[in-house]
Amino acid sequence: MKKDNLKVVIAGGGSTYTPGIVQAMISSRGKFPFTSLTLYDIDESRNDDMYQIIDYMLEKESLTKEVSLTETTQPEVAFSEADFIFSQLRVGGMKMREVDEKIPMKYGLVGQETCGLGGFSYGLRSIKGLLEIVSYVEQYAPNAWLLNYTNPETLVSEAVRRAFPNVKMLNACDMTISIEETIATNYGYNRKNWIPVYYGLNHFGWYSSIYDKSVDRDILPEILERLEKERLHVADFNAGDDTWQEAWDMMRLMTKNFPGYLPNNYLEYYLYPNRTIEHTDPSYTRANIVMDGREKKTKEMARKIRAKEKGEILDFNFGEHGQYIMDMAASILNDQHDRFMLIVPNQGAIPNLRDDAMVEVPAYVGRSGAEPISLRFAINDFHKGLMEAQNAAEKLLVDAYFEHSYQKALQAFTLNQTVYSADPAKQILDDFIEANGNYWPELN
Ligand code: NAD
Ligand code: G6P
Ligand code: MN
Repeated sequence: MKKDNLKVVIAGGGSTYTPGIVQAMISSRGKFPFTSLTLYDIDESRNDDMYQIIDYMLEKESLTKEVSLTETTQPEVAFSEADFIFSQLRVGGMKMREVDEKIPMKYGLVGQETCGLGGFSYGLRSIKGLLEIVSYVEQYAPNAWLLNYTNPETLVSEAVRRAFPNVKMLNACDMTISIEETIATNYGYNRKNWIPVYYGLNHFGWYSSIYDKSVDRDILPEILERLEKERLHVADFNAGDDTWQEAWDMMRLMTKNFPGYLPNNYLEYYLYPNRTIEHTDPSYTRANIVMDGREKKTKEMARKIRAKEKGEILDFNFGEHGQYIMDMAASILNDQHDRFMLIVPNQGAIPNLRDDAMVEVPAYVGRSGAEPISLRFAINDFHKGLMEAQNAAEKLLVDAYFEHSYQKALQAFTLNQTVYSADPAKQILDDFIEANGNYWPELN
């Protein structure tokens, strides 16, 4: 593997998250010396907006000579000679996210980007898009590392595991880091001292301990105690975002009613669907909030740059999101063996769960990739039961994708832990088939 002059590709270059990743890359150039950055997207206009923003950022940092920036919609141009690929596609865009969120709500069920039936609708679109990226990597850059943020993580990583078992790929989610950062800043900890143990499926897991090196003990019990008494406020990077305040409030409710563990906030959709439905406006969901917020802000930045406006133009803050994936790449490059939460085949990591489940657990990352830890304890029946049902539903959905099976899709929809009856499962599946059109595989 090359140690410098790295070529990095961002697949889904037009993503609103790209500036945060590039900012982290710029500040990490010492340990991650890249000289070429390519934005690859199927949407030329989104990609060009981002090209303007990134070019502006590089100019501000006086890096335009050292880093060559390319935008392209051609896979061969993008992936040839790549060393690292960061992928963050949203197949169907925010418009289809809106559909994913709104259709289940019409039938009184949770409508969410990655959880529930909205997540399953997104999954069948996303698998197709991501498998395409992996096939380009295999064809044009077989030695490159692919670091993936594309959602829904468990579904896409399960599909890649089946179709491309040997690809050099890490699947990651920023949620654990964002939970940790929010707790640390609220309660005055430094999470750099933490060695957390966490297990689950993606957006479906629990912390069982958080060892703090500065005091040499597990501080999870004291964090849980504080959560009971003190409200958790959104950290700076989510400032003003009411959706996240609701999520932290729901997380506190879960720790109160199911003590002893810190749950991923996304479990609210499975444990309290009734409450999340109550606080969601079915005609203005998260997709609308993001389109009217982050997406508009991004377009506005590109407009101002094209118009050569003066003053403060850059306007984004994604917290640790960009740094997290950047740190993974550096940990591979420099064989650092830093620890991250990753989505990996279980293979005994959670001893009493099936080996071929895609689970999210801590893993050390070095030159040869991820080395997940084994928990060395059996998880309890409550967590195990929830995970097994959800995992079976996800496996069935991926089966449906590869086998073009309507029956498997219906089983998956019915088993999804947000669904109480096969009636809405079937109605929603049929609505999604129509709404997704060619984005979905044909189901017979
Ligand atoms: P976005 O819509 O702003 O950007 C996604 C980009 O992907 C768009 O520019 C789109 O044109 C492009 N795209 C769509 N299909 C493509 C394809 N087949 N090939 C190449 N490009 C394609 O979305 P966003 O809000 O920035 O999110 C991007 C992705 O990252 C989503 O999957 C989202 O769920 C995920 N995400 C994951 C995490 C995590 O922790 N894992 C965190 C944030 C976002
Ligand atoms: C967190 C999750 C991601 C998810 C994102 C949604 O970062 O880990 O998986 O995509 O939130 O954020 P948004 O602002 O698009 O609703
Ligand atoms: Mn996530």
